[in-house]
Amino acid sequence: MLSGKTILIGITGGIAAYKICDLIRMFKRSSANVRVVCTPNALNFVTRLTLQSLSGNEVAVEQFEVNEFKPEHISCADEADIMVIAPCSANTFSKIANGCCDNLLTSIVCAFNKPVIIAPAMNCNMWENPIIQENFARLSGFEILEPESGFLACGTRGQGRLCKIEKIYDKTVEILANSRKLAGKKIVITSGGTIENIDPVRFLSNHSSGKTGTALAQNAAAQGAEVVLITTADAPGGGIKTVKVQSALDMQAAVEKESGTADCIIMSAAVADYRPKEVSAQKLKKADDNELSVKLVKNPDILQELCKNKREGQIIVGFCAESENLIENAKAKIQHKGCDYLIANDISRSDIGFGSDENEVYIIDKNLNIKKLDKAPKTVIAAKILEEVL
Ligand code: CTP
Repeated sequence: MLSGKTILIGITGGIAAYKICDLIRMFKRSSANVRVVCTPNALNFVTRLTLQSLSGNEVAVEQFEVNEFKPEHISCADEADIMVIAPCSANTFSKIANGCCDNLLTSIVCAFNKPVIIAPAMNCNMWENPIIQENFARLSGFEILEPESGFLACGTRGQGRLCKIEKIYDKTVEILANSRKLAGKKIVITSGGTIENIDPVRFLSNHSSGKTGTALAQNAAAQGAEVVLITTADAPGGGIKTVKVQSALDMQAAVEKESGTADCIIMSAAVADYRPKEVSAQKLKKADDNELSVKLVKNPDILQELCKNKREGQIIVGFCAESENLIENAKAKIQHKGCDYLIANDISRSDIGFGSDENEVYIIDKNLNIKKLDKAPKTVIAAKILEEVL
């Protein structure tokens, strides 16, 4: 099933390391080529000889070994189709989240631009530690298989146990099976709320978190597309090319640069319709007057411009945030903007949309056909949107 695929398994220092021996056997039985990279601490739990015998390949540990004039971390990253880090200790988890490259394993992950599965395992108090949870949030570009609850090797009960190795195996197979569906396609995605400066201190913006755009980018990249994410939010990592922008004008310039060669453009960003006419170079001082007016000028409509200059075969998708008359406004908007699809969501509901991890949307096509996607995590909604429009 995995013939022709190379799976790079990263093992860190945790008691669950012994379970990875079985995982290697499962991959080998499915005809995958398995490479193993260990942190030095992992070898306290499982021997190099065992991993070498099971994988049939040398086990990489040392950072500065040079293989045929290529540093080991680059050759490992080049060769593999997917990387699976299991068990991932709290230490390595945090290092990956912060871009540290202090050993071979962390250097490989940092250079790896293909799918990465991370299966953390640690004491339950460590997992619940807010710093670890913050790092978890930062690793949104990776496929994280959360630890399971149960009896832990340290004698306590709680969430921290490595998830079942069958789950890691199934996720690997699923990702590899999907990994070529969008190969050869370039997809440009915008996300986040634009920031329109008033002076060096203040700005106008909105509540868009960029989560849907990130989920779209991750899903498209996992299906083999060349993805460019143009965003005001944090870069998701995981090898996704990200262009950080701030204002609507910055976003427009970045979109113009990338859109000519794009097969699909998805404008999920909440672009400010207006910006301050003048941006003060100095901080505006409080005056005696009780009122202050800031003159605003209209921003270009990036989506509408894209639709006017659309290339043959290009698919353009807009988003539509409405607080009332959702369908009626969305239908008028798709006709006005001229895009192929419009994803409409109701921002008046606090359980979905802005800031939430879930959404419920309607996909409207240019013939005004409507399809509802029921309330689900934004990652699921993103997958369904891509399936529908591509
Ligand atoms: N959009 C854009 N450029 C703008 C404003 C919006 O490209 N200056 C895009 C958004 O990225 C989104 C779509 O247009 O894909 C609809 O955005 P939305 O905020 O719902 O609508 P607006 O066009 O701004 O209209 P209104 O604010 O009046 O609802």
